[in-house]
Amino acid sequence: MSQNTRSVLFVCLGNICRSPAGEAVFRHLVEERGLGDRVTVDSAGIESYHVGETPDTRMAGAARKRGYRLEGRARRFQAGDYAHFDLIVAMDRSVRRALSSWDPRLRHEEKLKLFSEFLPPGRPEDVPDPYYGGYQGFETVLDIVEEGVPAILDHLLGGPDEQTRA
Ligand code: 4NP
Repeated sequence: MSQNTRSVLFVCLGNICRSPAGEAVFRHLVEERGLGDRVTVDSAGIESYHVGETPDTRMAGAARKRGYRLEGRARRFQAGDYAHFDLIVAMDRSVRRALSSWDPRLRHEEKLKLFSEFLPPGRPEDVPDPYYGGYQGFETVLDIVEEGVPAILDHLLGGPDEQTRA
């Protein structure tokens, strides 16, 4: 990463529903704000069940209706991601626990955040896994992700004021 480029990685279980949604909504906001040359985003999963697959069609369909394009193919988180990314956002607490185990000496603890840390107080701690549920679950994921992503971008850039400098 160059000095002026900041990077974020969204991580869920399978990397076919929640983290690709986080990635797409985040990328959309970055482009809307004209920050494409300063910010990069990716996503990964802690399990390898779906490695190489495109995002879940139910998640992609719900996202498309809101104007987001889900991209890429599922990949598994790897220890090197800690060094590569400035910020790693776990979509739920079990994912965060698993990611902590990739960093046993807590060298990168400050980079690891739970998605709900970027939500207003009182929201649930986990972005609920929609995989085995119905249509509404995918809408709920998008509602939560849309609410939290602006604060993630602000955090990545060092606070809301930073974005207008550069
Ligand atoms: P994700 O959703 O972690 O949001 O991508 C899931 C995808 C697949 C499975 C579970 C959750 N699965 O059990 O295969």
